Amino acid sequence: MALSNENDINAIRSKADIVSIIGSYIPLTQRGKNYVCVCPFHDDHSPSMSVSPEKQIYKCFACGKTGNVFTFVSDYEDVSFIDAVAIVAEKCGIDFKKTATKKSNSLNRREYEIMTLAQKFFQNNLRTDVGSVALKYLNDRGFDDVTIKEFGIGLSLDSNDSLLKLLTKKGYDEKTLVDIGLVNSVNGNFYDMFSRRITFPLWDKDGNIVGFSARVYRGEKNVSKYMNSRDSILFKKGETLYNYHNAKDIAKREKKIILVEGFMDAIRLSLSGVKNVVALQGTAMTKEQIELLKKLRVEVILCLDNDNAGLIATLNNGKELEDNNIPIAVVRLSGEKDPDEYIVANGKDAFIDNLNHALSYFEFKMNYLKQNRDLERIEDQSEYIKEVLSNLAMKDDLILREVTLNKLSKDYNVDISILKTQLDNIKPVKKTIVVEEIEQKKEKKDSFMKSIEKILYFMMNGKEYVKKYQKKIGFFPDEIYREIANEIVYYLDVNKSITVADFITYVSEKDSIRDKVMEIVNESANDEVSLDIMDDYIQAILKVMTKNEIKRLKLLMKNELDVDKKMKLAIQIAELKKEDV
Ligand code: CTP
Ligand code: MN
Repeated sequence: MALSNENDINAIRSKADIVSIIGSYIPLTQRGKNYVCVCPFHDDHSPSMSVSPEKQIYKCFACGKTGNVFTFVSDYEDVSFIDAVAIVAEKCGIDFKKTATKKSNSLNRREYEIMTLAQKFFQNNLRTDVGSVALKYLNDRGFDDVTIKEFGIGLSLDSNDSLLKLLTKKGYDEKTLVDIGLVNSVNGNFYDMFSRRITFPLWDKDGNIVGFSARVYRGEKNVSKYMNSRDSILFKKGETLYNYHNAKDIAKREKKIILVEGFMDAIRLSLSGVKNVVALQGTAMTKEQIELLKKLRVEVILCLDNDNAGLIATLNNGKELEDNNIPIAVVRLSGEKDPDEYIVANGKDAFIDNLNHALSYFEFKMNYLKQNRDLERIEDQSEYIKEVLSNLAMKDDLILREVTLNKLSKDYNVDISILKTQLDNIKPVKKTIVVEEIEQKKEKKDSFMKSIEKILYFMMNGKEYVKKYQKKIGFFPDEIYREIANEIVYYLDVNKSITVADFITYVSEKDSIRDKVMEIVNESANDEVSLDIMDDYIQAILKVMTKNEIKRLKLLMKNELDVDKKMKLAIQIAELKKEDV
């Protein structure tokens, strides 16, 4: 749905009373401020669904369904979202004409043309006087001119409208510039989407520039490190793998492709001569990205960041790829945070050595199962062996079975016939123990995540909460939460006000965040919302974020040999500790 007719849709929503619309389908009973009914979306016997006239949303305690008047009609009548809007409009006696939003391909030629112009502008900026600081930043990171050119790295200026001015002077209208994400519209004024940052073009699978990611370079605080293009007619984050168009032919030749998290990692590998590399731009991997990898018919080497998120993503993404019959291997680097830093610290040969010693996914899982276990203890040993066996039970590879059983038998002094009997007794089940462990780990993260989710919920309730978030936090470490926060901020910029019910309309067709937003709303819909309560959640997460940063710096310090750098890290840590109290 285009934002342009979203205003009409919001107007319809504010005229339609959710109580009378849902009441026209199923009987409602008043209970306190809210109404309750039997949930039509699962086999419900007692009333589990509650409808809030105040918030204009519904939620089911039992099955988790949540939404506004449109999502209810859409799900109940099994019609598309836009058809549901039309039905609601009709019930309220409002005239609503669906506008076609499909754009044909030939229309996009103009949009690509604009992207190319923007790219030339950014690239040129880096070569002027005002680009010297940015250029120095890049050179200091070891990116030479060839690399800068190869990856089209550029610079957006310290101005809010230099690109806007250039493009409008060339005759392009503001709306198109907003549509392709180069320009932001705030209160009817237009601003450059990217400013004060080093720009990195993002390409689609065929090498067309479809968006940008832009990084701060002067150690700015309180802003997020990267600013990314939003999904648009050209750019679909979930369908993009950074550097795919460059890497695909080399990958086919080498019969493997390396998958990293950040595009900086991809650039570092590439300039170190490892050119068969693509970046996810985070840890999440979509179906479309899997399809892109599958098409190459090569082995995928997972080389994600060296933190817990990277570890869990290796497990999960590895499983997804394996389920899609894509051959995989795993590299877990140690010491530095990510492949980029690893190569800077240890050199490319050390990295390539790691690549050459990549583990099979099965081996990686076996190692993972050893973590957090004291294998000197008999209980831990026996638990470990059982888990290896239940993973092995899913494998048809007879040789792998034999070799693994032999190794277990030798390592832990267990008779091989006993292992075999135990293995034969396990029926292969879809869900492995590894997956269950991941779920447990997720639970452990809960209180931090919960606080973030509460903050996001508060943000959907009004401008003052969004302002507070911007002032106190600015960004969340987890990708999905960051994306939701960015969408809320963007929504508020455009619409000037925000309510939970209207934000639901906005996300209802955003596949990447919709479910999470609904989950958050479902869990918090009955909460009292106030700035004071929000403050408590903010303090809680800032504490954890500072702690994590201290932990990371301590690790860096431990591995740092250079005395000066060690000193600097110690000072940084001391400062964070001061903040912490
Ligand atoms: N990312 C983002 N916004 C942020 C942080 C990260 O969009 N504030 C995305 C970017 O696509 C980035 C990826 O997540 O490429 C990985 O993040 P991170 O590991 O923090 O970035 P690095 O690749 O390490 O970048 P740098 O080395 O420049 O710090
Ligand atoms: Mn990095």
